[in-house]
Amino acid sequence: MALINEHYLKLQAGYLFPEIGRRVSEFIAANPDKKVIKMGIGDVTQPLVPSVLKAFHEGVDEQGQEASFKGYGPEQGYEFLRKAIAENSYQAKGIDIPADDIIVSDGSKCDTGNIQDIFGADNKIAICDPVYPVYSDTTVMSGKTGACQENGYYDGIIYMPCTEENGFTPDLPTERPDLIFLCYPNNPTGTVASKEELKKWVDYARANKSIILYDAAYEAFITEDGIPRSIYEIEGAKEVAIEFRSFSKTAGFTGTRCAYTVIPEEVKAYDSEGNAHSVKKLWMRRHSTKFNGVSYPVQKAAAAIYTPEGKKEVEEVIAYYLENARIMRESLAEIGYIVYGGVNAPYVWVKNKNNMSSWDFFDKVLNEANIVGTPGSGFGPAGEGYFRFSAFAGRENVIEAMGRIKNLS
Ligand code: MLT
Repeated sequence: MALINEHYLKLQAGYLFPEIGRRVSEFIAANPDKKVIKMGIGDVTQPLVPSVLKAFHEGVDEQGQEASFKGYGPEQGYEFLRKAIAENSYQAKGIDIPADDIIVSDGSKCDTGNIQDIFGADNKIAICDPVYPVYSDTTVMSGKTGACQENGYYDGIIYMPCTEENGFTPDLPTERPDLIFLCYPNNPTGTVASKEELKKWVDYARANKSIILYDAAYEAFITEDGIPRSIYEIEGAKEVAIEFRSFSKTAGFTGTRCAYTVIPEEVKAYDSEGNAHSVKKLWMRRHSTKFNGVSYPVQKAAAAIYTPEGKKEVEEVIAYYLENARIMRESLAEIGYIVYGGVNAPYVWVKNKNNMSSWDFFDKVLNEANIVGTPGSGFGPAGEGYFRFSAFAGRENVIEAMGRIKNLS
């Protein structure tokens, strides 16, 4: 008899975005004449930039000729891409990360979800609330929690509420975690962490032999000076932090798939006898067993964002989305909404009026304005009463959507 992984039975409802997709498909089927504007899942809408596309085509053509054809590549990514990442995303900014510490993958969703494979079931995980739901769902799947309680919290996870009162930045937990998920710029609130804030976490992790799992998928959207783009800008972080970055939102790769995880050799975790082990070696062991590498043309396309033209083109696309975010923030504020984020992140986090629940607001906005957003409660109980709009949309749609929201009853 085949037995299931019963931890999956603890999971509440479906994964957030397919659940939204299901409701939206139902709405569209019942209202085929309505033009629905999608600002829910953070999925890019602008095409790949010319430099990326050119490199992508060249990579495909190389695969069509015997002399340049490539079969399996290195599981951790081609040296040319890892070197380009290390030089441009880190070394050029004074951060000493070698290409060797970079492991290329097909997405940060997979990496932030899979990373728990290499950590024991007894680890205590700290997670912000609200936050990207992959962290908690995969913690449940890996068997590190008990059941979900009535308040929406799983037994065994250390939750760190991020509220208006604490400026959506979590306080240090009272119970000591072994692994700490942090996400900056934050999904969903769009807030960022200052150097002081991150130093607080790095110092805490060093003092407690914890590891920070730092999701920096939105770092390219940071516009304000002085905000760290990498946790490795903080002294000592190389001993205690793993950083996840992605080409998805940075360069429009949500459908093309390429990302990377940085694990400095200095990051150690311990066996039950207290012996230190290299986390990078364990992750490489997992990665090379379960993954055969991102396709060559995709890696070649990703490397093109580091050429002078590629950099300029990608910056323009990011500026486009950030301008969308500005329009959204200002339009919503004008009609009396309290709005957060959208300055250093592609997400605008809105407080619902009259204490309306997140899903009620979702239904209202979908039914009356035919706009899809994401209910804040889908990111955790502390997101209740909030709503997230994604700035990944065409400009005309953004303007039309804001007009429709203005006319909501
Ligand atoms: C989001 O909308 O939160 C993200 O697009 C989801 C993801 O990156 O997987």
